[in-house]
Amino acid sequence: MLSRQLTGAVMRTLEPWQAAAFATYTAEHRDELVEFLPWAETVVDEDSAREFLQRYADGLARDERRLYGLYADDGRLVGGTLFRVFSTAASMCEVGVWLSAEARGRGLVTEAVRAMIDWAMDERGINRVEWHCSTTNAASSAVARRLGMRLEGVHRESFVHRGRADDVEVWALVSSDRTAA
Ligand SMILES: CC(C)(COP(=O)(O)OP(=O)(O)OC[C@H]1O[C@@H](n2cnc3c(N)ncnc32)[C@H](O)[C@@H]1OP(=O)(O)O)[C@@H](O)C(=O)NCCC(=O)NCCS
Repeated sequence: MLSRQLTGAVMRTLEPWQAAAFATYTAEHRDELVEFLPWAETVVDEDSAREFLQRYADGLARDERRLYGLYADDGRLVGGTLFRVFSTAASMCEVGVWLSAEARGRGLVTEAVRAMIDWAMDERGINRVEWHCSTTNAASSAVARRLGMRLEGVHRESFVHRGRADDVEVWALVSSDRTAA
């Protein structure tokens, strides 16, 4: 899956050659993203952006990770989605997301992740899709709920970020949930 047309946006792979643009994007939107995204703190210039994107490019080559940008119709990067973990051996993956503030509230991420779930389960035979988010991240929990995921539990103080140890909700969708729905 290299590219997918969504409503008013395109989802396509975000790659190391785009490091300069990604560094600029992160600098411009850091304040909107940094509360829940460690990379929004560590991507500070073109080199650190390339390192981050290269990790995902290497993961893609090994079929273990994937990273996509979400581009508005005018070509601007407005968010992204990722398979933070992708394991055919374990038949599971974990999805992550972000949107610039201007792109929120339109269902863009829900639509994008639905396409990723369809691809992971229908084309790749993945059985379980996970979603992890801080218990304080209501917008993120709402996406998981909207996607039909089930809240399975909370990992206590498992997300240490910016001097805070947040409890983390683990949501998941398994193949049999879809056939039951
Ligand atoms: C998490 C995050 C991506 C959610 O963004 P979002 O815009 O709420 O998510 P979606 O794109 O799915 O849009 C859902 C919103 O659009 C609305 N919407 C409009 N049309 C819609 C449609 N066709 N389908 C679904 N939702 C729609 C929903 O009602 C919802 O708005 P509401 O929360 O006011 O009810 C965003 O808050 C973010 O980037 N946060 C910072 C980074 C972050 O926390 N990432 C997750 C780490 S775990």
